[in-house]
Parts: sequence; C-alpha cells; structure tokens
Amino acid sequence: MTYIVTDNCIACKYTDCVEVCPVDCFYEGENMLVIHPDECIDCGVCEPECPADAIRPDTEPDMDKWVEMNRKYAELWPVIVTKKDQLPEAEERDGETDKMEKYFSEAPGEGG
Ligand code: SF4
Ligand code: F3S
Repeated sequence: MTYIVTDNCIACKYTDCVEVCPVDCFYEGENMLVIHPDECIDCGVCEPECPADAIRPDTEPDMDKWVEMNRKYAELWPVIVTKKDQLPEAEERDGETDKMEKYFSEAPGEGG
C-alpha cells in the first residue's frame, strides 16, 4: 500500500503535505507534487493536511494509474521538504475537473 497525489493538486500545490512527511518522499513538479510509492511508509499523516484533498490511499478504486504516474515523476523531479506559497490560482482551480488534461506540466519544480 502507498499514498499518492491525485489530480486536484494540479494548479494548486499547497505544499502543506511536505512538512509532515517523516521520510521526505514528496517530489516537486512545476504545478503539482507526487509521492514516491516505493519510499512512502503509509503513515497517512499527510492525507488530512492537504487543503485540496488530493492525497489518497491506493486502496481506493482506480488508483493504479496514479501510482504509476507518481512513481514516474518522483524519479524525474527534485525532492521538496519545505512548504512554500501555494500557486497564485490555487483557490480558483481547487475542485475543477479535467485538471490533468488542462494544466498538467511535466516540467520539474525547484524543489527545496
Ligand atoms: Fe509521507 Fe506518510 Fe504521506 Fe507517505 S503517507 S507520503 S510517508 S506522510
Ligand atoms: Fe498538493 Fe495538497 Fe500537497 S495540493 S502540494 S498534495 S498539500
């Protein structure tokens, strides 16, 4: 089992989650974070910290694609351990549908 970041993080990126992770397994893209599924110890403490409710356990239905997506980008993007400001459009974009198609960027974030 693992936790992963799902599409409502995209274009929000609140980053509250990184402050509580005991194993520093969040990785930063330009406009979302991912969790490395092989590093996550399934403690669950990040899930309630996300204002966008974007962190889910992989035991929920249809999470396989998100596990693979999180693994792929965790191996490409830099680690992030310190909270930073949310994206400027975060409140406006929170809860929108089809965020992957509309906003996802493969570009790495700055990490830190
Ligand atoms: Fe980190 Fe725990 Fe969240 Fe996994 S479940 S990403 S170990 S805080
Ligand atoms: Fe994203 Fe939620 Fe963390 S919006 S950056 S998963 S706090």
